[in-house]
Amino acid sequence: MHLNGKVAVVTGGGSGIGEATCVRLAAEGARVAVIDIDESAAELTAKLAGEGLAVVADVSHSAAVDAALTMVEKRLGPVDIWVNNAGIAGGATSDRVNPRAEQQLAELAVGEVTTALESLVRMEDDDWRRMLAVHLDGTFYGTRAAARSMAARETGSIINLASICGIEGCTGHPHYSAAKGGILAFTRTVAKELIQQNVRVNAIAATVAFLASDDASFFVGDTVSPNGGFVTS
Ligand SMILES: NC(=O)c1ccc[n+]([C@@H]2O[C@H](COP(=O)([O-])OP(=O)(O)OC[C@H]3O[C@@H](n4cnc5c(N)ncnc54)[C@H](O)[C@@H]3O)[C@@H](O)[C@H]2O)c1
Repeated sequence: MHLNGKVAVVTGGGSGIGEATCVRLAAEGARVAVIDIDESAAELTAKLAGEGLAVVADVSHSAAVDAALTMVEKRLGPVDIWVNNAGIAGGATSDRVNPRAEQQLAELAVGEVTTALESLVRMEDDDWRRMLAVHLDGTFYGTRAAARSMAARETGSIINLASICGIEGCTGHPHYSAAKGGILAFTRTVAKELIQQNVRVNAIAATVAFLASDDASFFVGDTVSPNGGFVTS
């Protein structure tokens, strides 16, 4: 029970990694608020996380994120842990490019690849903007909202979900890779600033409960990347 009495917020907590994070943080003793754009998913996770609080918000909207924080603090008290996890996959770009990627694989199996992937040239402005809005804007809005509360109290842990795509760059996903690379640079920068007020900011692809705990008190501006050895930097 490393997180007894702490208040934790997880954006995109309605499914996947966010849902698992909510359940784990609750198991460690935290009272958990689940922010998600999908109301029923948020409510389900809130139930799984014991007496969790479901909050519907789109993290790409600044005012919605600020309002979510206000609601959480009114209901659960000052926030100690904020996890910027909400995310989307490749969207319409992936729908357009995936058949070409499959074609490439088929060609590779029998010899020379002749089909161009064309993920960049086929990407629409809206695909790019939405990816950056959810991941990078959402991380900025969440971090800023949490920091305004935490820095004043000189305590807190903010954890951003990055990706190996933000380190390596993932073929076919320039928008996702750019957003995650931006999150890593943003994390390092604000971590240096907020540690002066005892607020730690780190980025990962999992391992939230550990980074949120006091056991991780010397982790500042770090990227913990559990990726099975795919990237070792
Ligand atoms: N799954 C992986 O292998 C992997 C690897 C590296 C990084 N990540 C990152 O981890 C995070 C979670 O990934 P996941 O695989 O669990 O995804 P997921 O699709 O299972 O869950 C994402 C959640 O975010 C919510 N969401 C989407 N847009 C939102 C918005 N605008 N506002 C609020 N909520 C929103 C969705 O409703 C959903 O509940 C993402 O940031 C993703 O980029 C995932």
